[in-house]
Amino acid sequence: MASKNLQNIILLYKIILICGLCLVYSKAELQRFEHPIKPDGSLSILVVGDWGRRGAYNQTEVAAQMAKIGDQVDPDFIISTGDNFYEDGLTGVDDPAFEESFSNIYLGPSLQKQWYNVLGNHDYRGDVLAQLDPILRKKDSKWLCLRSFILNTDVAEFFFIDTTPFVDKYFNNPKDHKYDWRGVLPREEYLFNLLKDLDTALKESSLDWKIVVGHHTLRSAGKHGITFELEERLLPVLQENNVDLYVNGHDHCLEHISSPDSPLQFLTSGGGSKAWRGNVRPWSPEELKLYYDGQGFMTMKLTKYDVYIQFYDVFGNILHQWSRSKGLYFV
Ligand SMILES: *[C@@H]1O[C@H](CO)[C@@H](O)[C@H](O)[C@H]1NC(C)=O
Ligand SMILES: [Zn+2]
Repeated sequence: MASKNLQNIILLYKIILICGLCLVYSKAELQRFEHPIKPDGSLSILVVGDWGRRGAYNQTEVAAQMAKIGDQVDPDFIISTGDNFYEDGLTGVDDPAFEESFSNIYLGPSLQKQWYNVLGNHDYRGDVLAQLDPILRKKDSKWLCLRSFILNTDVAEFFFIDTTPFVDKYFNNPKDHKYDWRGVLPREEYLFNLLKDLDTALKESSLDWKIVVGHHTLRSAGKHGITFELEERLLPVLQENNVDLYVNGHDHCLEHISSPDSPLQFLTSGGGSKAWRGNVRPWSPEELKLYYDGQGFMTMKLTKYDVYIQFYDVFGNILHQWSRSKGLYFV
């Protein structure tokens, strides 16, 4: 009997603790930004990932090709899917890698637009607060990096998600790497909070196109493959809320995987510099629309009714294109 009472007391404490945490959680909200669309009602975007190598491994060539295609498509902004600075992020706000891998590389006039960056696992190996520091925006106004945030446009809503803290091995088996978890701990609170905020924001979103951007893969035939922690915790939120596209990097390739059972498309743009050639796992050919294990980038064009995706290699060849229309209501 005594132990039953004790159990009840423990349960009560647990409930109080959870309610307390809920109060803390409910205060957090994802920061929102607005970006205007073109007067013709469209939005044009370049997407690149896994890039910062001081120009090496064709980073400069990819940047030059992005600038060329950028001249044609006139991007409204650029999305970076993370792993912004190799191997170990930035050492601080004065790390010359910021100029050597970013400002001095993406020089084309068409690339002087707002960049919306997320963090990758390599970024967490450096001074993570440096990449988030407003000082970098003063050094180069096109830079903007936050952990998780929302970007509103008149045709689509973009949800940028910090995926590195989801991955167990960076905590349990970091090997020789030191991860900068400032602002992330306690981890479970951070993840719970993030998923809840994402879910709430997705449910509130009134726009037809919902696009989620993160560094890690959800579906990939590349070296890293599926990120199981994200498959377990993030994927159900995306499916439940009818997200159209999940855009990521991490695997150093260009890749498009479709879903057999939902409209959700998985787009990997991780070809910003070093690519892993010859590293592909078996994947159902009905789902795998593109796997290119070389360098390049992706473009996206959106209107209220259409989304149009293209993947480019380092020479500017179109490797793959895909489009979808919806909501063609004539009123
Ligand atoms: C640069 O790109 C070319 C063309 O895709 C490729 O043949 C070459 O191996 C790449 N170099 C590096 C270092 O990745
Ligand atoms: Zn990565």
